[in-house]
Amino acid sequence: MERVTVPPPMSLLAELTHRCPLQCPYCSNPLVLDPRVGELSTVEWCRVLDEAADLGVLQVHFSGGEPMARKDLPELVGHAVRRGLYTNLITSGVLMDEAALVRLAEAGLDHVQLSFQDVEVVSAERIGGMKGAQAKKIAAARLIVADGMPLTLNFVIHRLNVERIPAMFALAEELGARRVEIAHTQYYGWGLKNRATLLPTRAQLEQSERDVAAARARFGTWMAIDFVTPDYYADEPKPCMGGWGRRFLNVAPSGRVLPCHAAETIPGVVFPTVREETLAGIWNDSALFGMFRGTDWMPEPCRSCHRKEEDWGGCRCQALALTGRADAADPVCQRSPDRAVVDAALREVDDTGGNLAYRRVSGIK
Ligand code: FES
Repeated sequence: MERVTVPPPMSLLAELTHRCPLQCPYCSNPLVLDPRVGELSTVEWCRVLDEAADLGVLQVHFSGGEPMARKDLPELVGHAVRRGLYTNLITSGVLMDEAALVRLAEAGLDHVQLSFQDVEVVSAERIGGMKGAQAKKIAAARLIVADGMPLTLNFVIHRLNVERIPAMFALAEELGARRVEIAHTQYYGWGLKNRATLLPTRAQLEQSERDVAAARARFGTWMAIDFVTPDYYADEPKPCMGGWGRRFLNVAPSGRVLPCHAAETIPGVVFPTVREETLAGIWNDSALFGMFRGTDWMPEPCRSCHRKEEDWGGCRCQALALTGRADAADPVCQRSPDRAVVDAALREVDDTGGNLAYRRVSGIK
């Protein structure tokens, strides 16, 4: 297969740690979490940030786990800022206090994306698995807005909270957030494990679309609203990550470099690491990033589809999770020979409020 050359990545997702005080049952981290021992050191992360800037990356998203569990976060933010990178902190907010925010602001942090599990406290704390989390999040949001730092509230939507989307917008308005993400859960990793409990019905999805449309009409340009729908109800796949190896790099806590957060589920693959190779070498030349880049790898019906350079074949990790083959057509596509597995999942929605499997990783210090 011919090597496909692409421009530099736009964004680096720096997963500083998998440690997190929360245990959300749709967490995007892998089912097997990286332990604290083995996390990249401060010096190693600074080298990764240097290599990202040299490669042409524009934005770095500090994520986790909970990135604030890393005491060197302000140092890493400062380093990224000095290298000209736009810095975004993706956090649960439960470790945020005034002193921590001051350190981050002094380091030059550009933006915070704060996650909420729900607006209703009992439900939020059931989903996150942490008592007292909601009050800490609200306090964090107030500190961030008072500081003048741009704030996005992120709500992950599923069957157990989908009816409270209007209240989520009301909370965002009250807190002064100017951007809100209403993002339906995506079903791989932990989300897939809990799919029967989390997947909304079609009627709930359609109501969520009306709720978002009403909020857009009400807030106009005052509030930017991003809406992510669940793939399973779509007829055509999304261009996952903007296409494999086209726009994003993920660096996992132990230094593995991935085209997306779920790529580690792909069997028989050597995962490159920043401990052995440069980011530029991995981006341009690794077998992993070349694996599904472009269109040459595509099977039918993708290969002859007019949308193949719009959706880039959809999500490889979803194809793997649902068909056992990472190079299969994304089964959410109506033209996929495997679409029946998605339709079967839609019929298996669990109405009982169900048991949730929680991710756990010990030690947040
Ligand atoms: Fe890996 Fe979509 S999450 S390609």
